[in-house]
Amino acid sequence: MAEELTEYSGPATMEKITSLAKRRGFVFQSSEIYGGQSGAWDYGPMGIELKNRIAGFWWKEMTQLHDDIVGLDAAILMHPRTWEASGHVENFTDPLVDCKKCKSRFRTDMVPEENLAKKICPECEGELTDSRKFNLMFKSHIGPTEDNAGLIYLRPETAQGIYVNYKNIIQSNRMKIPFGIAQIGKAFRNEIVTKNFIFRTCEFEQMEMQYFVKPGTDVEWFNEWKKRRWAFYEKLGVKTDHMRWHQHGPDELAHYAKDAYDIQYLFPMGWRELEGVHNRTDYDLTRHTEYSGKDLQYIDQDNNNDRYIPYIIETSAGLTRTLLMLICDAYDEEKIDSDSSGDSADEMRTVLRFHPVVAPVTVAVLPLMKKDGLAELAQDIRSELKEDYATDYDQSGAIGRRYRRQDEAGTPFCITIDYQTKDDQTVTLRYRDSMEQERIPRADLAEKIRQEIKAYKRGR
Ligand code: GAP
Repeated sequence: MAEELTEYSGPATMEKITSLAKRRGFVFQSSEIYGGQSGAWDYGPMGIELKNRIAGFWWKEMTQLHDDIVGLDAAILMHPRTWEASGHVENFTDPLVDCKKCKSRFRTDMVPEENLAKKICPECEGELTDSRKFNLMFKSHIGPTEDNAGLIYLRPETAQGIYVNYKNIIQSNRMKIPFGIAQIGKAFRNEIVTKNFIFRTCEFEQMEMQYFVKPGTDVEWFNEWKKRRWAFYEKLGVKTDHMRWHQHGPDELAHYAKDAYDIQYLFPMGWRELEGVHNRTDYDLTRHTEYSGKDLQYIDQDNNNDRYIPYIIETSAGLTRTLLMLICDAYDEEKIDSDSSGDSADEMRTVLRFHPVVAPVTVAVLPLMKKDGLAELAQDIRSELKEDYATDYDQSGAIGRRYRRQDEAGTPFCITIDYQTKDDQTVTLRYRDSMEQERIPRADLAEKIRQEIKAYKRGR
């Protein structure tokens, strides 16, 4: 087995990723013109395409390719008793200390031990308060009065929307155990430490799947879902030497979990959690039974109407965190050493080697010249491809510079239209990763790209 990487040694830094994300319209600071809102980010034209494609890929993998998993889109606002039942009101806390002098707030586990022991602020050496629990849920009020009767939480995880609907889904869709419910949606946490760009934010999106199983089969299903979730990232071409499993120790386990493993990814700032696979036992459904007074047992009609509270295996990935991971994973810098067809020699290029299924733009159409009808011809070809692919069109600047722009946005295919196209209806297809080019008939383009996407293996 290859030795595990201890630190990131690739070309990306968080500064480069943040700057590229802004420059190319992936991610902007929220409310930037007012100085920005910490913990919140806006997804620009490229970012929303990338996010939608990651979500679409996950959705297809988890629902379309699994006959036993159905989808759900539950409301963000839920009955406040939900969060009492789930244990979040009591347990979803971070231990915090405040500095009495500079007013900075720290997560206790982030403060060096000697500072904690002596109660000295690591920033200004002022006096620190005692550690206290700080609940991460955002609270608001619903209705006309701002009193406790109208107390409402912004959900800190999407999972609970699935649990409270589990009986509805069994009844409406005649689901039989084992089965799963998948959901993608926003979640909110009042995070204190929100550095590292979009890694940990107060508003983010999750892609969660809850798989309901018979007690006693949970360990087997837990191991099965670990395998499947690892395979998901492999299918996206993520560098597997940048991925590893981390099992939660007793002091890390969430209040609901019997066992939990994270898939960690080696980001430029080090190994960090990407996704969690959790064995939540019958904790959630037992608690909701208790708090709602509703019987949430499963009736196994194929087995003498046996009744039991199912165990739940959860796979929980951050959509926005996956987006950051995919940008970091795809980021590359390369010296260009050939000057064939517009790729000038001795230049550096920045390239995002996204798998084509998630790339924001799949095909860019570039006329070599604007004149002599080439632009019109290129627009015509673009219109043909639009039905099947996300396209871009660029006619300004030298062709090499236009390739560079597409490389930096992660566009896997460029099509160049030149004078020969007018004569014989062929175009040049350029591959982002290898920069190789081939001449193919215009009529074959859509099918050729389809095949290339299906067979895609990352070049570097
Ligand atoms: N339902 C289980 C659950 O929410 P979690 O480990 O707290 O478990 C699951 O979160 C995933 O959600 C994480 O692995 C991460 O990808 C993402 N996530 C959690 N908190 C986040 C935050 N503040 N910002 C961005 N992503 C976050």
